Amino acid sequence: MKILLIGEKGQLAWELARTLMPIGDIVPVDYPAFDISNKEQILETVYSVVPDLVINASAYTDVDRAETEKEKAVAINAEGPGWLAEICQSKNIPVIHYSTDFVFDGMKKSPYVETDIPNPINFYGRTKLKGEEAVLNATESALIFRLAWLYSSRGNNFMKKFLEWAGKYEIIKVVDDQVGNPTWARFVAEATASILAESLSSDLPLYNWIKEHKGIYHLTGSGYTNRYEWSCKIWEFAPNRENLKIKRVERAKTVDFPTPAGRPAYSALDCSLVKRTFSINIPSWEEQLQKCMDN
Ligand SMILES: NC(=O)c1ccc[n+]([C@@H]2O[C@H](COP(=O)([O-])OP(=O)(O)OC[C@H]3O[C@@H](n4cnc5c(N)ncnc54)[C@H](OP(=O)(O)O)[C@@H]3O)[C@@H](O)[C@H]2O)c1
Repeated sequence: MKILLIGEKGQLAWELARTLMPIGDIVPVDYPAFDISNKEQILETVYSVVPDLVINASAYTDVDRAETEKEKAVAINAEGPGWLAEICQSKNIPVIHYSTDFVFDGMKKSPYVETDIPNPINFYGRTKLKGEEAVLNATESALIFRLAWLYSSRGNNFMKKFLEWAGKYEIIKVVDDQVGNPTWARFVAEATASILAESLSSDLPLYNWIKEHKGIYHLTGSGYTNRYEWSCKIWEFAPNRENLKIKRVERAKTVDFPTPAGRPAYSALDCSLVKRTFSINIPSWEEQLQKCMDN
Protein backbone atom coordinates (compact mmCIF):
# COMPACT_ATOMS: atom_id res chain seq x y z
CA MET A 1 0.00 0.00 0.00
CA LYS A 2 1.29 3.46 -0.92
CA ILE A 3 0.46 6.16 1.64
CA LEU A 4 0.80 9.88 0.90
CA LEU A 5 1.54 11.46 4.30
CA ILE A 6 1.01 15.21 4.48
CA GLY A 7 2.68 17.33 7.17
CA GLU A 8 5.76 15.09 7.46
CA LYS A 9 7.67 17.19 10.02
CA GLY A 10 4.78 17.68 12.46
CA GLN A 11 4.72 15.80 15.77
CA LEU A 12 1.91 13.43 14.73
CA ALA A 13 3.19 12.84 11.18
CA TRP A 14 6.65 12.02 12.53
CA GLU A 15 5.13 9.24 14.66
CA LEU A 16 2.88 8.11 11.78
CA ALA A 17 5.78 7.80 9.37
CA ARG A 18 7.57 5.37 11.67
CA THR A 19 4.55 3.45 12.91
CA LEU A 20 3.03 2.92 9.45
CA MET A 21 6.25 1.71 7.84
CA PRO A 22 5.38 -2.01 8.21
CA ILE A 23 1.96 -1.39 6.64
CA GLY A 24 2.92 0.51 3.52
CA ASP A 25 5.33 2.65 1.53
CA ILE A 26 5.17 6.14 2.94
CA VAL A 27 5.53 9.12 0.61
CA PRO A 28 5.98 12.03 3.00
CA VAL A 29 5.43 15.66 1.96
CA ASP A 30 5.48 18.91 3.91
CA TYR A 31 5.54 22.67 3.59
CA PRO A 32 7.14 24.47 1.77
CA ALA A 33 7.78 21.78 -0.89
CA PHE A 34 4.10 20.83 -0.64
CA ASP A 35 1.49 23.41 0.32
CA ILE A 36 -1.97 22.12 1.22
CA SER A 37 -3.40 25.58 0.61
CA ASN A 38 -2.43 25.28 -3.08
CA LYS A 39 -5.08 23.32 -4.97
CA GLU A 40 -2.92 22.87 -8.11
CA GLN A 41 -0.13 21.41 -6.02
CA ILE A 42 -2.47 18.95 -4.30
CA LEU A 43 -3.73 17.82 -7.68
CA GLU A 44 -0.25 17.42 -9.16
CA THR A 45 0.99 15.52 -6.08
CA VAL A 46 -1.97 13.16 -5.77
CA TYR A 47 -2.01 12.47 -9.52
CA SER A 48 1.73 11.84 -9.72
CA VAL A 49 2.09 9.76 -6.51
CA VAL A 50 -1.17 7.82 -7.10
CA PRO A 51 -1.41 6.67 -3.47
CA ASP A 52 -3.79 4.03 -2.12
CA LEU A 53 -4.45 6.25 0.90
CA VAL A 54 -3.85 9.88 1.85
CA ILE A 55 -3.24 10.82 5.48
CA ASN A 56 -3.42 14.51 6.25
CA ALA A 57 -1.51 15.29 9.46
CA SER A 58 -0.74 18.87 8.38
CA ALA A 59 -2.47 21.80 10.02
CA TYR A 60 -2.13 25.39 11.10
CA THR A 61 -1.83 24.65 14.83
CA ASP A 62 -0.89 28.03 16.36
CA VAL A 63 -4.16 28.62 18.21
CA ASP A 64 -3.34 32.20 19.27
CA ARG A 65 -1.83 33.35 15.99
CA ALA A 66 -4.86 32.01 14.10
CA GLU A 67 -6.84 34.90 15.62
CA THR A 68 -4.87 37.30 13.40
CA GLU A 69 -3.60 35.09 10.53
CA LYS A 70 -7.16 34.17 9.68
CA GLU A 71 -6.83 33.69 5.92
CA LYS A 72 -3.83 31.43 6.30
CA ALA A 73 -5.52 29.35 9.01
CA VAL A 74 -8.67 28.94 6.87
CA ALA A 75 -6.64 27.97 3.80
CA ILE A 76 -4.60 25.30 5.63
CA ASN A 77 -7.23 23.90 8.02
CA ALA A 78 -10.44 24.21 6.00
CA GLU A 79 -10.05 24.85 2.25
CA GLY A 80 -6.96 22.69 1.72
CA PRO A 81 -8.41 19.56 3.39
CA GLY A 82 -11.62 20.08 1.37
CA TRP A 83 -9.67 20.29 -1.93
CA LEU A 84 -7.59 17.29 -0.92
CA ALA A 85 -10.72 15.22 -0.23
CA GLU A 86 -12.31 16.34 -3.51
CA ILE A 87 -9.23 15.40 -5.53
CA CYS A 88 -8.91 12.06 -3.72
CA GLN A 89 -12.59 11.35 -4.40
CA SER A 90 -12.02 11.90 -8.12
CA LYS A 91 -9.47 9.05 -8.00
CA ASN A 92 -11.30 6.85 -5.45
CA ILE A 93 -8.56 7.35 -2.87
CA PRO A 94 -9.64 7.24 0.79
CA VAL A 95 -8.55 9.95 3.24
CA ILE A 96 -7.63 10.02 6.91
CA HIS A 97 -7.79 13.47 8.48
CA TYR A 98 -7.33 14.78 12.04
CA SER A 99 -9.32 17.38 13.93
CA THR A 100 -9.54 18.73 17.46
CA ASP A 101 -11.45 18.96 20.75
CA PHE A 102 -11.42 22.74 20.18
CA VAL A 103 -14.49 22.38 17.93
CA PHE A 104 -16.48 22.37 21.21
CA ASP A 105 -17.28 25.36 23.40
CA GLY A 106 -16.44 23.65 26.71
CA MET A 107 -19.81 24.28 28.34
CA LYS A 108 -20.70 20.59 28.74
CA LYS A 109 -20.16 18.91 32.10
CA SER A 110 -19.43 15.40 30.81
CA PRO A 111 -17.17 14.12 27.99
CA TYR A 112 -18.27 15.15 24.50
CA VAL A 113 -19.56 12.48 22.13
CA GLU A 114 -19.51 12.70 18.34
CA THR A 115 -23.20 13.65 18.17
CA ASP A 116 -22.73 16.72 20.38
CA ILE A 117 -23.09 19.95 18.41
CA PRO A 118 -19.76 21.73 17.87
CA ASN A 119 -19.57 25.42 18.74
CA PRO A 120 -15.94 26.59 18.61
CA ILE A 121 -14.99 29.59 20.74
CA ASN A 122 -11.78 30.46 18.89
CA PHE A 123 -10.83 30.94 15.24
CA TYR A 124 -8.59 27.85 15.11
CA GLY A 125 -11.54 25.72 16.26
CA ARG A 126 -13.76 27.31 13.60
CA THR A 127 -11.24 26.51 10.84
CA LYS A 128 -10.88 22.91 12.02
CA LEU A 129 -14.67 22.47 12.13
CA LYS A 130 -14.91 23.86 8.57
CA GLY A 131 -12.17 21.39 7.60
CA GLU A 132 -14.18 18.46 8.99
CA GLU A 133 -17.26 19.60 7.06
CA ALA A 134 -15.29 20.18 3.86
CA VAL A 135 -13.73 16.69 3.99
CA LEU A 136 -17.02 14.94 4.75
CA ASN A 137 -18.82 16.86 1.99
CA ALA A 138 -16.16 16.25 -0.65
CA THR A 139 -15.62 12.52 -0.34
CA GLU A 140 -17.55 9.41 0.50
CA SER A 141 -14.47 7.65 1.93
CA ALA A 142 -12.89 9.45 4.90
CA LEU A 143 -12.13 8.88 8.56
CA ILE A 144 -11.70 11.95 10.76
CA PHE A 145 -10.17 11.54 14.20
CA ARG A 146 -10.65 14.33 16.71
CA LEU A 147 -7.58 14.50 18.95
CA ALA A 148 -6.83 16.57 22.03
CA TRP A 149 -3.90 17.97 24.02
CA LEU A 150 -1.39 16.23 21.75
CA TYR A 151 2.23 15.83 22.90
CA SER A 152 5.35 13.91 21.99
CA SER A 153 9.09 14.19 22.46
CA ARG A 154 9.21 16.32 19.28
CA GLY A 155 7.52 19.50 18.19
CA ASN A 156 5.76 22.23 20.10
CA ASN A 157 3.61 20.96 22.94
CA PHE A 158 2.67 21.57 26.57
CA MET A 159 4.63 18.60 27.97
CA LYS A 160 7.87 19.86 26.43
CA LYS A 161 7.18 23.43 27.52
CA PHE A 162 6.50 22.32 31.10
CA LEU A 163 9.75 20.31 31.24
CA GLU A 164 11.63 23.32 29.91
CA TRP A 165 10.11 25.57 32.61
CA ALA A 166 10.81 22.88 35.23
CA GLY A 167 14.49 23.08 34.33
CA LYS A 168 14.53 26.87 34.84
CA TYR A 169 12.07 27.80 37.61
CA GLU A 170 11.35 26.66 41.20
CA ILE A 171 7.65 27.53 41.12
CA ILE A 172 5.42 27.04 38.09
CA LYS A 173 1.80 28.18 38.01
CA VAL A 174 -0.56 26.12 35.89
CA VAL A 175 -4.30 26.54 35.36
CA ASP A 176 -6.62 24.02 36.96
CA ASP A 177 -9.78 25.22 35.19
CA GLN A 178 -9.09 23.72 31.75
CA VAL A 179 -10.03 20.05 31.45
CA GLY A 180 -9.11 17.74 28.58
CA ASN A 181 -7.46 14.47 27.53
CA PRO A 182 -3.67 14.51 27.22
CA THR A 183 -2.84 12.31 24.22
CA TRP A 184 0.53 10.94 23.12
CA ALA A 185 1.05 11.36 19.37
CA ARG A 186 2.60 7.85 19.24
CA PHE A 187 -0.68 6.39 20.57
CA VAL A 188 -2.63 8.17 17.78
CA ALA A 189 -0.18 6.81 15.21
CA GLU A 190 -0.48 3.28 16.64
CA ALA A 191 -4.28 3.48 16.73
CA THR A 192 -4.30 4.69 13.11
CA ALA A 193 -2.00 1.78 12.13
CA SER A 194 -4.13 -0.72 13.99
CA ILE A 195 -7.32 0.53 12.26
CA LEU A 196 -5.58 0.28 8.89
CA ALA A 197 -4.34 -3.23 9.70
CA GLU A 198 -7.95 -4.16 10.53
CA SER A 199 -9.06 -2.79 7.14
CA LEU A 200 -6.42 -4.88 5.36
CA SER A 201 -7.69 -8.08 6.94
CA SER A 202 -11.17 -7.40 5.52
CA ASP A 203 -12.34 -8.63 2.09
CA LEU A 204 -13.29 -5.09 1.09
CA PRO A 205 -10.91 -2.80 -0.80
CA LEU A 206 -9.58 -0.02 1.46
CA TYR A 207 -11.72 2.64 -0.25
CA ASN A 208 -14.93 0.68 0.43
CA TRP A 209 -13.91 -0.27 3.96
CA ILE A 210 -13.26 3.36 4.90
CA LYS A 211 -16.46 4.35 3.08
CA GLU A 212 -18.36 1.87 5.26
CA HIS A 213 -16.87 3.42 8.40
CA LYS A 214 -16.94 7.03 7.16
CA GLY A 215 -17.29 9.66 9.85
CA ILE A 216 -15.84 11.45 12.85
CA TYR A 217 -14.35 9.59 15.80
CA HIS A 218 -12.94 10.89 19.07
CA LEU A 219 -9.46 9.46 19.69
CA THR A 220 -7.57 10.52 22.82
CA GLY A 221 -5.91 9.10 25.90
CA SER A 222 -8.59 7.59 28.11
CA GLY A 223 -9.65 9.54 31.19
CA TYR A 224 -9.31 13.28 31.54
CA THR A 225 -7.64 15.78 33.79
CA ASN A 226 -6.88 19.49 34.19
CA ARG A 227 -3.66 21.20 33.17
CA TYR A 228 -2.45 21.53 36.77
CA GLU A 229 -2.85 17.79 37.48
CA TRP A 230 -1.28 16.98 34.11
CA SER A 231 1.75 19.14 34.99
CA CYS A 232 2.15 17.37 38.35
CA LYS A 233 2.26 14.01 36.51
CA ILE A 234 4.76 15.31 33.94
CA TRP A 235 7.00 16.33 36.84
CA GLU A 236 6.44 12.99 38.65
CA PHE A 237 7.30 10.95 35.53
CA ALA A 238 10.16 13.18 34.30
CA PRO A 239 13.21 10.99 33.64
CA ASN A 240 15.70 13.61 34.85
CA ARG A 241 13.88 14.76 38.02
CA GLU A 242 17.09 15.28 40.01
CA ASN A 243 18.37 17.83 37.46
CA LEU A 244 15.19 19.91 37.47
CA LYS A 245 14.99 23.19 39.34
CA ILE A 246 11.26 22.96 40.07
CA LYS A 247 10.11 22.75 43.72
CA ARG A 248 6.37 23.30 43.39
CA VAL A 249 3.50 23.50 40.90
CA GLU A 250 0.87 26.05 41.94
CA ARG A 251 -2.74 26.18 40.86
CA ALA A 252 -3.77 29.15 38.75
CA LYS A 253 -6.83 30.23 36.78
CA THR A 254 -7.25 30.87 33.07
CA VAL A 255 -8.05 34.55 33.79
CA ASP A 256 -4.53 34.91 35.25
CA PHE A 257 -3.01 34.14 31.83
CA PRO A 258 -4.93 36.05 29.14
CA THR A 259 -4.30 34.73 25.61
CA PRO A 260 -5.47 36.07 22.22
CA ALA A 261 -7.62 32.94 21.69
CA GLY A 262 -10.04 31.61 24.29
CA ARG A 263 -9.73 27.95 25.34
CA PRO A 264 -12.72 25.73 26.13
CA ALA A 265 -12.91 25.16 29.90
CA TYR A 266 -13.98 21.57 29.44
CA SER A 267 -13.18 19.72 26.23
CA ALA A 268 -12.83 16.11 27.40
CA LEU A 269 -13.79 13.70 24.60
CA ASP A 270 -15.62 10.38 24.99
CA CYS A 271 -13.90 7.69 22.88
CA SER A 272 -16.55 4.95 23.19
CA LEU A 273 -17.46 5.10 19.50
CA VAL A 274 -13.94 4.48 18.18
CA LYS A 275 -13.56 1.57 20.64
CA ARG A 276 -16.93 0.08 19.66
CA THR A 277 -16.23 0.43 15.94
CA PHE A 278 -12.61 -0.70 15.67
CA SER A 279 -10.48 -3.20 17.58
CA ILE A 280 -8.29 -0.74 19.42
CA ASN A 281 -7.13 -0.48 22.96
CA ILE A 282 -6.96 2.99 24.51
CA PRO A 283 -4.51 3.28 27.40
CA SER A 284 -5.15 5.86 30.12
CA TRP A 285 -3.57 9.28 29.65
CA GLU A 286 -1.27 8.56 32.63
CA GLU A 287 -0.05 5.30 31.05
CA GLN A 288 0.61 7.09 27.74
CA LEU A 289 2.56 9.83 29.51
CA GLN A 290 4.65 7.30 31.43
CA LYS A 291 5.48 5.43 28.20
CA CYS A 292 6.40 8.66 26.43
CA MET A 293 8.76 9.58 29.29
CA ASP A 294 10.28 6.08 29.27
CA ASN A 295 11.00 6.58 25.57
N1 LIG B 1 -1.17 19.86 18.87
C1 LIG B 1 -2.29 19.64 19.56
O1 LIG B 1 -2.37 19.83 20.79
C2 LIG B 1 -3.51 19.14 18.83
C3 LIG B 1 -4.69 18.96 19.57
C4 LIG B 1 -5.80 18.48 18.91
C5 LIG B 1 -5.75 18.20 17.55
N2 LIG B 1 -4.61 18.42 16.85
C6 LIG B 1 -4.61 18.12 15.42
O2 LIG B 1 -3.73 17.04 15.19
C7 LIG B 1 -3.14 17.14 13.89
C8 LIG B 1 -1.61 17.06 14.00
O3 LIG B 1 -1.17 18.13 14.83
P1 LIG B 1 0.37 18.30 15.23
O4 LIG B 1 0.41 18.76 16.63
O5 LIG B 1 1.16 17.12 14.80
O6 LIG B 1 0.74 19.55 14.31
P2 LIG B 1 2.18 20.20 14.04
O7 LIG B 1 3.22 19.54 14.87
O8 LIG B 1 1.98 21.68 14.14
O9 LIG B 1 2.46 19.79 12.52
C9 LIG B 1 1.73 20.31 11.49
C10 LIG B 1 2.56 20.16 10.23
O10 LIG B 1 1.82 20.75 9.15
C11 LIG B 1 2.73 21.52 8.38
N3 LIG B 1 2.08 22.56 7.61
C12 LIG B 1 1.75 23.82 8.00
N4 LIG B 1 1.25 24.51 6.97
C13 LIG B 1 1.26 23.68 5.90
C14 LIG B 1 0.87 23.82 4.55
N5 LIG B 1 0.40 24.97 4.07
N6 LIG B 1 1.01 22.76 3.72
C15 LIG B 1 1.51 21.58 4.17
N7 LIG B 1 1.91 21.40 5.45
C16 LIG B 1 1.78 22.44 6.31
C17 LIG B 1 3.65 22.10 9.42
O11 LIG B 1 4.82 22.62 8.79
P3 LIG B 1 5.54 23.92 9.45
O12 LIG B 1 6.00 23.47 10.79
O13 LIG B 1 6.60 24.23 8.47
O14 LIG B 1 4.47 24.97 9.55
C18 LIG B 1 3.90 20.88 10.30
O15 LIG B 1 4.93 20.07 9.79
C19 LIG B 1 -3.64 18.47 13.31
O16 LIG B 1 -4.78 18.22 12.52
C20 LIG B 1 -4.09 19.25 14.54
O17 LIG B 1 -5.09 20.20 14.24
C21 LIG B 1 -3.48 18.87 17.47
